[in-house]
Amino acid sequence: MSKTPTTDPNDVAPAVAGLDTIVSLAKRRGFVFPSSEIYGGINAVWDYGPLGVELKNNVKRAWWRAMVQARDDIVGLDAGILMHPQVWVTSGHVGSFSDPLVECLVCHQRFRLDEMSGTEGLSASDLQDPTVVERLNLRHAADGGRLTPPRRFNLMFKTFMGPVEDEAAIVYLRPETAQGSYVNFKNVLQSSRKKLPFGIAQLGKSFRNEISPGNFVFRMREFEQMEMQYFVRPAEAAQLFEEWLSRRHDWYAAYGVTPARLRYREHAPDELAHYAKKAVDIEYRFPFGWKELEGVHNRGDFDLSRHAEASGENLEYFDQASGEHFIPSIVETAGGPDRAAFTFLIDAYREEEVRGEKRVSLALHPELAPYKVAVLPLLKKRPEIVEMCQRILADLKRDTMAVYDDTAAIGKLYRRQDEIGTPWCVTVDVDSLEDGAVTVRDRDSMTQERVPVEGVKQLILDRLSAARP
Ligand code: GAP
Repeated sequence: MSKTPTTDPNDVAPAVAGLDTIVSLAKRRGFVFPSSEIYGGINAVWDYGPLGVELKNNVKRAWWRAMVQARDDIVGLDAGILMHPQVWVTSGHVGSFSDPLVECLVCHQRFRLDEMSGTEGLSASDLQDPTVVERLNLRHAADGGRLTPPRRFNLMFKTFMGPVEDEAAIVYLRPETAQGSYVNFKNVLQSSRKKLPFGIAQLGKSFRNEISPGNFVFRMREFEQMEMQYFVRPAEAAQLFEEWLSRRHDWYAAYGVTPARLRYREHAPDELAHYAKKAVDIEYRFPFGWKELEGVHNRGDFDLSRHAEASGENLEYFDQASGEHFIPSIVETAGGPDRAAFTFLIDAYREEEVRGEKRVSLALHPELAPYKVAVLPLLKKRPEIVEMCQRILADLKRDTMAVYDDTAAIGKLYRRQDEIGTPWCVTVDVDSLEDGAVTVRDRDSMTQERVPVEGVKQLILDRLSAARP
């Protein structure tokens, strides 16, 4: 929903020049596959493969740990994807959750006006102006076709609830998790007995019928969100907004995103979403430009006031200290594990030359890496070596994600693990059978050290715990 940032002459270089490198690695190594690929795929839906699901789950766990587990003032919630349709009328989504859509009069393809060339720098009001296409003589670049004036295209997916498919049965697939937290404000407040300021965190699927999805998993029609609604005294909102903004920025940096590739961008007044008093995006320098990674929004009392009015429920907070009743303001942190995992993947990508050969590695933070450790035999033909590997593997698997591989020579096995971001490899060789020691190799430095086999699991677990932000 936000505008494309203008080009900055002092721009930093992206971690990879083009998306192709990441898309092909993701497919080849089982991070992300096109959905329903055997039927030709379905636009803007992607499936997470064996490694991708681990990476995304790790991102979600890291977020939950930082936002819920580590804090006394935030609790979790898992609301339904389908909600009472009135929720989306009250929230303003039925009326305002839209993008400016234009259609080419030659090929009848439809586009988001603000993503067409020639619209850079246009304000949100310009983008809704019915004369804008004619004034700027905008055309479809591919066939020179004239374009229709923009019309507002609502991004919510609709479906029917129950056996009758009529207007009264329409329900929406949620386009954000936030509303589930607002309509449960009273339930959570009463059951958790939290005092302001306190937050509700949610992680789950959202759906948007994006006009121009794309850039791989950056903009999808089915995706996940990780959002936290922080309920505050109105006078504290501005200060807490700034605190959450830098805290969320620092979370990405702590998990390895290069700080120079992160920046803040405040929304212009006419660009603000219908609910926001102030919004700042944490942007990342993707290979296709600076784009929103996460948004932090000061939503004021918009949501709770509207829901209170429309539902007739009293959603006020009673402040015992001051004896006042009031509707809390909301500071929202709104990110998504798909976009975050994508960012971590891009930013971790490394190519270098080692002994005359190209080495590709993913310098993922150990907590995010799909496998923490790989157990590798130097000689798979020696049953005692394989057996020792299996013993180490079984022990490691009790506590962490570990994998065994013996389908190539050791050099190639290391390269494979480097390419999927496994921080440590444990190698069992002939000497291990004699001295009971194994080699632990580090992904980033490629250094190797000899460790007694009985201490290897603790070493890995200690390193994992030391790396945790
Ligand atoms: N509740 C506020 C809200 O939904 P948003 O900026 O529209 O704000 C928040 O979305 C985050 O959700 C984005 O920063 C992004 O990480 C993720 N997100 C939104 N639309 C997405 C899409 N089409 N595909 C993938 N992730 C998306």
